[in-house]
Amino acid sequence: MRTRYAVANWKMNLPPEGIEAYLGAVGRAPGGTALVVAPPFPYLDNVAAMIEDGLAVAAQNCAEQLSGAFTGEVSAAMIRGLGARYVILGHSERRNLFHETDAVVARKLTVAIETGLTPILCVGEDLHVRDEERVDAFLADQIKAAAAAALEKAAEIIVAYEPVWAIGTGRNATGAVCAETTGGIREAIRRFWPAKHAEAAILYGGSVTPENVDELVSDGRIDGFLVGGASLDSGKFMAIAGALTR
Ligand code: PGA
Repeated sequence: MRTRYAVANWKMNLPPEGIEAYLGAVGRAPGGTALVVAPPFPYLDNVAAMIEDGLAVAAQNCAEQLSGAFTGEVSAAMIRGLGARYVILGHSERRNLFHETDAVVARKLTVAIETGLTPILCVGEDLHVRDEERVDAFLADQIKAAAAAALEKAAEIIVAYEPVWAIGTGRNATGAVCAETTGGIREAIRRFWPAKHAEAAILYGGSVTPENVDELVSDGRIDGFLVGGASLDSGKFMAIAGALTR
């Protein structure tokens, strides 16, 4: 059975219920699902120290350099040292608000892999790309751009399909759009990445809630979710994770 993933991206927020209560409520993963919590950098070690088996920690970003004079940056090795196992890379907020290009994302991917972190690589199109019916080519370019040599060395890489128009907007993709688009992403992975990653997990992210999750999993092709807003509530996050076992 394929592993399913539910990833809680807290972004620059803390859960209103508090970290300890949140992690206590999240508890153990439902069978076959890996639960991953991605807190802001300063809370990584705290969260890593508190989690139980079956729960893992992700950073939301890392520096593209290994170390050196890069004021304000946090290296992949530091993140790993704090107990993170995963790192989210290429999130559209990083690409759009912090001007991360495909080349920057590819360099981050390389240092993450060389440091032993598993990347959760986000790809996703803007609304105008969808309107112009260029989604498959656009996403294939993002996948191709991430075809760093380091991918050969990566034991695992996870892809998150996150259409920009669905992130934090309350407008989620339908199950049919997800199925069709992730099919295109799978083709690009097989075309541009080493064969060992042909079956890489593909998650969906963008306004996932307990209310829309059943429709999103109905096609059976989604390997999990990257959840923003709804992940700040442990009950909602677990309801979403629970849908992956149905
Ligand atoms: P959202 O964020 O669930 O709040 O739309 C998803 C994400 O940015 O990963």
